Amino acid sequence: MKRLTLLGATGSVGASTLDVVARHPDRYRVFALTAHRSAEALIALAARHRPRYAVLSGLAEDATLRRRCAEAAPGTELLFGAEALETVATATDCDAVLGAIVGAAGLAPTIAAVRAGKQVLLANKEVLVMAGPFVMRAAAQSGATLLPIDSEHNAVFQCLPGGRNPGTAALRRIVLTASGGPFRTEPLERLEQVTPAQACAHPNWAMGRKISVDSATMMNKGLEVIEAHWLFDAPPEAIEVLVHPQSIVHSLVEYADGSMLAQLSHPDMRVPIAHALGYPERIVSGARALDLAAVGGLTFERPDLRRFPCLALAYAALREGGTAPAVLNAANETAVEAFLAGRLRFTAIARAIAHALDAVPATPADTLAAVLEADARARRAAADWVARAGAAAA
Ligand SMILES: NC(=O)c1ccc[n+]([C@@H]2O[C@H](COP(=O)([O-])OP(=O)(O)OC[C@H]3O[C@@H](n4cnc5c(N)ncnc54)[C@H](OP(=O)(O)O)[C@@H]3O)[C@@H](O)[C@H]2O)c1
Repeated sequence: MKRLTLLGATGSVGASTLDVVARHPDRYRVFALTAHRSAEALIALAARHRPRYAVLSGLAEDATLRRRCAEAAPGTELLFGAEALETVATATDCDAVLGAIVGAAGLAPTIAAVRAGKQVLLANKEVLVMAGPFVMRAAAQSGATLLPIDSEHNAVFQCLPGGRNPGTAALRRIVLTASGGPFRTEPLERLEQVTPAQACAHPNWAMGRKISVDSATMMNKGLEVIEAHWLFDAPPEAIEVLVHPQSIVHSLVEYADGSMLAQLSHPDMRVPIAHALGYPERIVSGARALDLAAVGGLTFERPDLRRFPCLALAYAALREGGTAPAVLNAANETAVEAFLAGRLRFTAIARAIAHALDAVPATPADTLAAVLEADARARRAAADWVARAGAAAA
């Protein structure tokens, strides 16, 4: 019986995870579920899955909520505040931690779980983008296993022997696929006017709002290039992106002999989640079988960097190294939040990030404090730029 802490239980990945877990009551027990402020949704999940702990990381102690949780889910203790995330991620009674918090907020509890030597199933890509060297070093020191949940990295993991890069003599390149998002064919001059609702209407995947906007700008793929660099120890020039609008081939690896291996499935997050939960065994995910004859054609094209400047910014930040990826990530979170709140145009997201990368020079990312400092400076630089852009548009 594997005892699981699910960080970010009320989100899209959280829902898919609980769907898979509920199919295997003989294999998994939910040890802890966390949300930020969605109290009612978390208590409803606690009533259904009966974890030992439920955590509301964005709320202070609240006796009424505590009572409601005790009534709905007897045996579940409700904890409050961000520190409680680390408590449930490192508890000795927990075997595996699935990180599905969105954004930089997932960094501290994920690093805590890695340091505690847990099996860490990682959806929260921002963690590796910000602090890849720390996370990988901490995993090597503690013996923690890292299993990627992001569908592309999970696909690459499945195509590599033991999930590891066999070395440059054997592995020629990793090809990450991208759907191209909702604006793949939108006339370029119309991109300036697109709304948050349009940006969040992904053609193939149902996801949270932040990652949906990241898919529309293709920053999502840029973050994934950086994530792949750390997970699979591959240089930037060995990581390629191809647009594949059907979202059936989730990624590929090419070997020195010219063989390419790919992983295919319907675009359903339960597939990579079930793979990581069951690893090294295979378990039922609930996803429908793939009928390739019904799919018909699979197509691939190179990304247009005029349409997707965020992808180029991510490669540049990865090549620059040090704290540049943390700056990229923080500026992106700030700009996307402003776009979702109606304070920034879609096409200005990339400009805000480029400004932050110029304004906050990269420094060596040799301590976590340096990364967090770069993150804070980038948020301020991007927020200032957004405020000036808003004033100029008014
Ligand atoms: N969705 C996908 O299909 C998918 C695929 C691959 C990778 N990912 C990655 O997985 C992560 C989660 O994505 P998602 O789409 O599931 O996000 P989501 O639907 O927005 O859910 C985010 C979760 O994180 C919690 N949260 C938000 N802000 C927080 C904070 N400051 N501190 C602690 N918890 C916080 C939310 O709690 P509340 O409900 O209380 O706000 C919620 O449980 C992201 O890093 C994303 O890039 C997602």
